[in-house]
Amino acid sequence: MRFFKELDGRIAGAPSILSADFANLAAEVRRAEAGGAELVHFDVMDNHFVPNLTVGPAVAASLAIATALPVDAHLQVMKPDSLIPAFVAAGVASISVQPEVITHLHRTLAAIRNAGLEAGCALNPTTPPEVLEWTFPYLDYVLVMSVNPGFGGQAFIPEMADKVRRLKEMTDLPIQVDGGITEETAPLMVEAGAQVLVAGSAVYAGDPTIEMRKIIEAGRRAAGRA
Ligand code: DX5
Ligand code: ZN
Repeated sequence: MRFFKELDGRIAGAPSILSADFANLAAEVRRAEAGGAELVHFDVMDNHFVPNLTVGPAVAASLAIATALPVDAHLQVMKPDSLIPAFVAAGVASISVQPEVITHLHRTLAAIRNAGLEAGCALNPTTPPEVLEWTFPYLDYVLVMSVNPGFGGQAFIPEMADKVRRLKEMTDLPIQVDGGITEETAPLMVEAGAQVLVAGSAVYAGDPTIEMRKIIEAGRRAAGRA
């Protein structure tokens, strides 16, 4: 399945497992799925690119078996190249990498795609969208970080809506947004052109079924107005 390719114009929601109960991941994902989630956002952190440390390919493999939803790995690590084969083997559907730490981005994206997965680039808040200008032919989606990567529950950076707008002038690729996404901020990002709404704390602070649905519906209403 090609999640990003088959999105068309649809607004989709993805729970970030970072704010879920890691001892009950499959159940936590199912609760968000019941609220309309179509993708699982799997945050990988290495204590080097970001201060935090999370989970790796072994957990991704278990989760990929336990959920019917595609698993999207967001690699917030210094050395993504050496991890890509293990995430491919784990059965994730897509992988996004942070170009800030990659020397041979064309090669990295090709490694993801050649394995049959969709490839994405995630941009830190101050990374200009122009760094992606020559990557679009090798990309399936762009992830705009609307917080500094590393932690859930941080405040949304409103200028990132302008980055989404700029990207939409540059490419038709689907834009995913991640960081501080709530019922209130999702519409700002959808109006700017975002299609995939990742939310962690906003989903798991309450009932994930209800909260996921609220975010997706707020996004879809905004898309209807746009
Ligand atoms: C941050 C992660 C996010 C995080 C978002 O580095 O990439 O996916 O879970 O959390 P919230 O939605 O709480 O900002
Ligand atoms: Zn993320």
